[in-house]
Amino acid sequence: FKEDEASKTLSGKKMVVTAGGTIERIDPVRYITNDSSGKMGVAFAKTAKAMGAEVTLIAANMQVKYPEGITVVPVQSADDMYRAVLEHWDQSDIVVKAAAVADYRPLEAAKQKIKKSGKTLTLELVKTVDILESLGKAKTHQYLIGFAAETNDLEQHAASKLERKNADLIVANDVTQEGVGFGTDTNAVKIFDRQGLVKEIPVTAKEEVARQVLLIAASRMDGRK
Ligand code: CTP
Ligand code: CA
Repeated sequence: FKEDEASKTLSGKKMVVTAGGTIERIDPVRYITNDSSGKMGVAFAKTAKAMGAEVTLIAANMQVKYPEGITVVPVQSADDMYRAVLEHWDQSDIVVKAAAVADYRPLEAAKQKIKKSGKTLTLELVKTVDILESLGKAKTHQYLIGFAAETNDLEQHAASKLERKNADLIVANDVTQEGVGFGTDTNAVKIFDRQGLVKEIPVTAKEEVARQVLLIAASRMDGRK
């Protein structure tokens, strides 16, 4: 992290970062989750703090340590995460949705451990709330940064997510690329807004990705309606 240009660019700003992968209960001993480590979210939280922001990290099933000096709200499910974000929403200037939110959850979490019986077991899953999409609808002054993890047709998927979720920026990565995405300390991304590609960042430390995204956000958020 370089002190010069970035230092204190976000002073006085309140920021919420969601990180990690949500946990959707099947029964008291089992759940559905994903490979998100929480590293990208932690990189955003630390970098934003160094840039002067007051940061709250809403964290699900993190594989990494919580960063020091940052308020952390631990959550499990997509529903929990949504509620936690809403609690901070009115006061937030920037919301960074780095979490990998489960798209589906079991219709009902069984109260008791599901016993082994037949040869097959079918779980009925229902869609979770799309947190980013809901925030996009509720947006007033907040600057909304979403992510898109893709294996193909990156541009098109990023553009449609930007539109559908009413985000200000989408940070998209091609998770098939080496050194990109889940669990790594590095990332390579393309940043999109309504006009298209804003910036392409080749493989670099997640902190550096965060710094560049936050510099774009900082330069745009105040002049925006
Ligand atoms: N997201 C969210 N709530 C969900 C699912 C996703 O807030 N229930 C957010 C993620 O945190 C991310 C963005 O939406 O910032 C894009 O997530 P992604 O999984 O790439 O997109 P989806 O809309 O879920 O579409 P798909 O998984 O089919 O690509
Ligand atoms: Ca998804």
